[in-house]
Amino acid sequence: MLKDKTILIGISAGIAAYKICELVRMYKRAGAKVRVMMTPNSLHLVTKLTLESLSQNEVFVENFDIKEYKPEHISLCDEADIMVLAPATANTISKIANGICDNLLTSTVCAFNKPIIIAPAMNTNMWNNKFVQENLQKLADNNYHICNPECGFLACGTEGVGRLCELDTIYNKTVEILNENKKLAGKKIVISAGGTVEKIDPVRYISNFSSGKMGVALADAAYQMGAEVTLVSTFEAKKPYKVTKLQSAIEMEKEISQYNNNVDCIIMAAAVADYRVKDYSEQKMKKTSDDEIEIKLVKNPDILKKISAESNTTKIVGFCAESENLLENAKIKIKNKGCDYLIANDISRKDIGFSSDENEVYILDNNCNIEHFEKDSKINIAHKILEKIFE
Ligand SMILES: Cc1cc2nc3c(=O)[nH]c(=O)nc-3n(C[C@H](O)[C@H](O)[C@H](O)COP(=O)(O)O)c2cc1C
Repeated sequence: MLKDKTILIGISAGIAAYKICELVRMYKRAGAKVRVMMTPNSLHLVTKLTLESLSQNEVFVENFDIKEYKPEHISLCDEADIMVLAPATANTISKIANGICDNLLTSTVCAFNKPIIIAPAMNTNMWNNKFVQENLQKLADNNYHICNPECGFLACGTEGVGRLCELDTIYNKTVEILNENKKLAGKKIVISAGGTVEKIDPVRYISNFSSGKMGVALADAAYQMGAEVTLVSTFEAKKPYKVTKLQSAIEMEKEISQYNNNVDCIIMAAAVADYRVKDYSEQKMKKTSDDEIEIKLVKNPDILKKISAESNTTKIVGFCAESENLLENAKIKIKNKGCDYLIANDISRKDIGFSSDENEVYILDNNCNIEHFEKDSKINIAHKILEKIFE
C-alpha cells in the first residue's frame, strides 16, 4: 500500500512515544521508507537507537547537526511524502500552531508543505486546557489532519480522554491521504492559464491583468493528485509536468482544440482576450503628428464555447470573472457556453482573484447547481474544484 512512499515520523516527548516503534514497523511492512525525527526531550522516553534499528535509517534530533551542507529540516522535507507527528505533546502542538521553530522537529513542520498528520496524546487536564484546544483547532483549520486521542486508562494513572489513538487509525489515515492525493491517476487534464497577448506590432500588445495563478494552482493540484497534466500558458513556468507557452487567443484555440476528445478534462482558466488587433503591423508603428490614432479590433474565437460544442468525451470547465451580479451572470454564461462546469469569481474584491494568492469561488454545473468554496489559498481551492469535477 505504501510502496515508494517516504514517511517522516516526528516524535515528541509524550509517554506514548514507545508505541511509535510499532508504527514504524507497520509502515515498513507496507513497503514505505521511514525517516524518524525526535525532539530532544523525547530521548528521555524512547531511545534513538531503537528507532534507528526499526526504521533502518539514521534518526535526527539536532537542528545544527548539518550534513552535506544542507540543513536536515529542509532535505527531509524534500524527501518525504507525508509527515506524521505522533505522539504530539501539548507543548509541540502549541509551538507549531504559533510558528515557533526552536528545534529540528518544529522547524521541519514549519517548512513542510505536504500533508501532516498530528496524533496528540496527553493527560486529560492538558487535553482540556483551553489554549491547547485553541492551538489544535488552529491546526485543524489549516489542513493539518488530526487523529484525536481516545478515552481510556492513562499512564498518569487516571481515566479520561488523552490516550494516543489506535496505531491503526494513524496508519489508515496515512494510506487514505497518500491515496487520496493520487485520486486522478490515469486522468489526462489540460489547463490553460494567463492573459492572452494580442500583438499590435513587434513591440506592443494588448493584454489583461490575469496573473495565471489560479490556472497554475489547478495544474499543480492535478499533478499532485496523480493526473497527467499539460499547462497551456501565456508565460514561462518551470514545472514537473508539460508546459506549452504561447501568446495569442488564436494560438491558444489551435493548441487547446487538438486535446478536445483526447483528454479527460480541459479547464479554461486563461483570460482570453475578446478582441485582437485587426491589422498587425510587421514594422514598429511610428509616432505621428496626430493626437489620436485608431486601432481596429476584431473578435477572437470563443474557445470555451467552441470546445464545449465539439466535445463528446472531454469534460469542459470554464471560468467567469464578474465584477457585479456574479451568480446571475454565471448562470447565463454556463448556458451560453455549454460547458460542463463554470467557476465564478468576483473580481471586484481586492482580497481575492487577480494576482492574489487566495480566491473564493462558486462552481456551477450545467443544471445550474451551485456550490460555494469559501476564501482559501488558490491551491486549496484548486483541490476542491478538482474533487468536485471528478467526484
Ligand atoms: C514521564 C513523562 C511523560 C510525559 N507525557 C506527556 C504526554 O503524554 N503528553 C504531553 O503533552 N506531555 C507529556 N509530558 C510533558 C512533556 O514531556 C513536556 O511538556 C516536554 O516539554 C515536551 O517536549 P517536546 O514537546 O519538545 O517533546 C511528559 C513528561 C514526562 C516527564
